[in-house]
This record gives sequence, structure tokens and C-alpha cells, in this order.
Amino acid sequence: MPDTPPSIVIFGASGDLTQRKLIPALFNQSKKGRLPVGTRIVGYARRPYSHDEFRSLLREALGKFAPKAFDSAVWDKFAANLYYQKGDLSTAEDFVALEAILKSIEGGPANRLYYLATAPEYYSAVCGYLGAAGMTREEEGARRIIIEKPFGTDGASADALNQEVHAAFHERQVYRIDHYLGKETAQNILFFRFANTIFEPIWNRNYIFSVQITVAEDVDVGHRAGYYDHAGVLRDMFQNHILQLLTLVAMEPPASFTADSIRNEKVKVLQAIRPIPLESVAQNVVRAQYRKYRDAEGVAPNSETPTYVAMRLHIDNWRWQGVPFYLRSGKALATKLSEIIIQFRRPPHVMFNFPEGHRPISNILAIRIQPDEGIHLRFDAKVPDTAQETRSVDMEFHFRNSFGDGGLPDAYERLILDALNGDASLFTRSDEIEAAWKLMDPILQGLASPHAPPLAFYEAGTWGPAEADAFIARDNRQWLVGGMHQ
Ligand code: BG6
Repeated sequence: MPDTPPSIVIFGASGDLTQRKLIPALFNQSKKGRLPVGTRIVGYARRPYSHDEFRSLLREALGKFAPKAFDSAVWDKFAANLYYQKGDLSTAEDFVALEAILKSIEGGPANRLYYLATAPEYYSAVCGYLGAAGMTREEEGARRIIIEKPFGTDGASADALNQEVHAAFHERQVYRIDHYLGKETAQNILFFRFANTIFEPIWNRNYIFSVQITVAEDVDVGHRAGYYDHAGVLRDMFQNHILQLLTLVAMEPPASFTADSIRNEKVKVLQAIRPIPLESVAQNVVRAQYRKYRDAEGVAPNSETPTYVAMRLHIDNWRWQGVPFYLRSGKALATKLSEIIIQFRRPPHVMFNFPEGHRPISNILAIRIQPDEGIHLRFDAKVPDTAQETRSVDMEFHFRNSFGDGGLPDAYERLILDALNGDASLFTRSDEIEAAWKLMDPILQGLASPHAPPLAFYEAGTWGPAEADAFIARDNRQWLVGGMHQ
């Protein structure tokens, strides 16, 4: 493999993702000295920028989206390796021209990373044109591609897209991104479970009563209403981020920390999840919309698109048999919070003389993905100076306190660097995507059928519809936040 600096080509370079996430991530990695010296970043889009105009656009973006990270000395070096090539995403000659420019900039063999930061409808075309222009062949260095979500809108479209991608790239060249996997707190789930000994022996049906995964957002759909109204929360959050978190919590220990052994275990979890048949969707899923959603520009006036879903899943294997997994996510909720709650079983026998009606708590392990990233363990302690009174207390770990309050790096920093280095551990393999859609498809079909539960509504700024509380209460459980009843 060449030891010349790699090239990163961003398709959709004038868009929001590039400015908000990709360039700040690349800039930060360059500042930390982790981006190979001389790495070239080539933006490709339709607008007619000169190299210098493109540099100014990105300079402004950094000022806006990463003002604290900005450093003019680093910027000067970084900007010297920024290039722009005007081109269309569906014109074969433009790709041929791009290849020529890349070759002239590279001046010899070089590894390349293509980044698909375009609208999803262009994914297959871009892969096709890259293939046709000979830009996916690896004689002159690695050719890898990062593909953003959403990867398909259902199983059939994801399969078709996988086939189109595979017509141009081998699977080992493909990096399907799910930025949740790049979050430090998501990565830490595997370290928490498998770099320690005390949790794994109790991480199963014998000790765990239920698992809850909440991914709540306080923002509403905002300017993305047009996209969102077609996607809804199941495609936007469940098929990818939430199922990924679930696999990290539920997977068996891989034998080694390599991309394929980790992803093999994740696929096994997805395949062991009991599908929710279309006819029983109403018993297992709550769907809701925040009031005023239909007033947003781009949303159909009679839209039934859920902005909130809660569901119960079961994993049919030895470890998890009988342990319900409750998942919920929504927009316009009370706060932004992503958290995994492991609720343990209550003590089997209580010898204390607790007051009438008092039930000992179940221990709760709360893995806070964001914000105030950390892990909390709740247990009962004796209240001092009482005979037999107990109260729940919290044993806390905050990343901020233990590792400094510089803040955690953005997920994209790690992910782009991993793809550049050929490490696919934190990316989604094609069979994972397919398994995730297999679970989502019948739910999506059920929600669009007469078997669907009625669409519930909730006020923006609340924890979602009363129906979701009633749903979990029917199982004698409650939604928990930070180990507390919400
Ligand atoms: C994206 C979704 O994948 O994730 C957005 O499309 C959502 O709708 C976002 O807001 C949430 O990401 P984060 O990192 O802010 O939790």
C-alpha cells in the first residue's frame, strides 16, 4: 500500500453534513496530529466554487460549528490541502474529470476514501459512476467508501442498494456509517462489559428484569420536515441507532476485537430478535405524533408519520429469554437524552421489617449515552439513625469528572479516521443492515395496515403520549430516566 498521503473525496461537499460534521471532525483530527500529514480533501458538488471559495466556505463553517477548536496555524496547513471540483452526481464525464484531477493532485499511487454526503437517492448512481470510471479498483491504493444513513427505506430497497454498491465495491471497501457507534459512550459499552469481570456474570435473564433504551430529542423536525415525513422515527432512529445500541448491550462477547468478530456477534443478536408480526403490532408498539407536527412546512396535512414510537422486543436466545427490551424515541420531547437502563430483579426474599407496602427497589444500571455522559448504579442503602429504613442511592461515574471536562470528541472524528485506516469495527456490515430491516419491515407494514394501533398525540416538551406509559404499565414496569421513575 502506498505511503503517500491519502485523499478524501467528499460528494455533497457544499451540504450541511460536510460543514457541520465532516470538516470540523477532519480539522480536529488534523489538529491532534492524527490525520496523515498532507491528507488531501477534495470537495465535489454542483456549485461553481474555486478552490479558494471552497476554502473560505469551510473556514466560515468551522467558525460556526467548531469555534473553540479553530486555530489559524493549523488551518493554514489544513486549507493548503483542500481542493474543490465542480461536478454533477449523475454525469459520467464529471467522474472521469474528477479522476483526472485526483491523479494530478496525487501524483502517484495513493489511498482514497470517498464520502457519500449526498442525498440518499444518489448513492447507487455515484457508486456506479465511480465503478465505471475505474475509481474503485485498488491497483494504485485502497479505495474505500463511507455511505451515510439512511441505507434504504425498507428491506427491499436496502437489498437493491447493497447490490448496486457491491457491483462497484467489495464489501470490505464499504463503510456504512451509523454515527451512534462513533460516540465514546456507545464504544464504552463493550469496554464496560468486556474489560471488567463483575458485570458479565449477571448480564442475563437470571438477574436482569428488563432493559430500556431511550433516545429522546427535544428538537422538533425543523427544516427536515420534508425528509422526515417520509421517514418517520422508525426509519430515522430505530432501524439504525437504537438497534445498534441494543446489539451492543445484548451481544455475546466476541473472541477478538476485530471488525468481523464484533459484527458477527451483532448480527446474531439481530437475528435472534423475535419479529413483531404485522397483526400484533398494536400489542407491541405505540406510535404517536407531537401536536403541531402537521403544521410544519413539508408535512402532509393528514400525515400519520410517527414522531414517537415505543416498542417491546424479545430476544430469543439463552441469555435473554423472557427479558423484555423496551425501546422508545421521539422528537419534541422533554429533553435531549439517550440512555440505556438495565433494571435488575428484586431481592427474592426480604428479611427486614419494612413498612407496609414498601417494596425493595430493583437495582438499576443507567448507561448515559448523552448528555452528561456516564454510568450510574442505583442501590438501596440504610438511612442512618433509623432502624430499618432504606433509600435508593446512586454510585456515579461521569466522563467529565474522570477524564477532564474538555468534552468528548464528536463521533465523526473517530469514524472517519477508522475508515481511513481500514478499520470497519464501528461500521455496519451489509448483513447487519438487512437483519435490521427484517425487523423493521413488518412493523412499518403493520403501522400502515388496519392492524395499526391508533395514532396517539403528545404535547411538545413532554415525555411522549400517555399511551406509552400505559403500554409499559401493562407489563408492571415504568419508564425510567437516570434510574428514577420519570
Ligand atoms: C440522525 C437523525 O441520524 O440522528 C436525526 O437523522 C437525529 O433526526 C440525529 O436528530 C440524532 O443524533 P444525535 O447525535 O444528536 O443524538
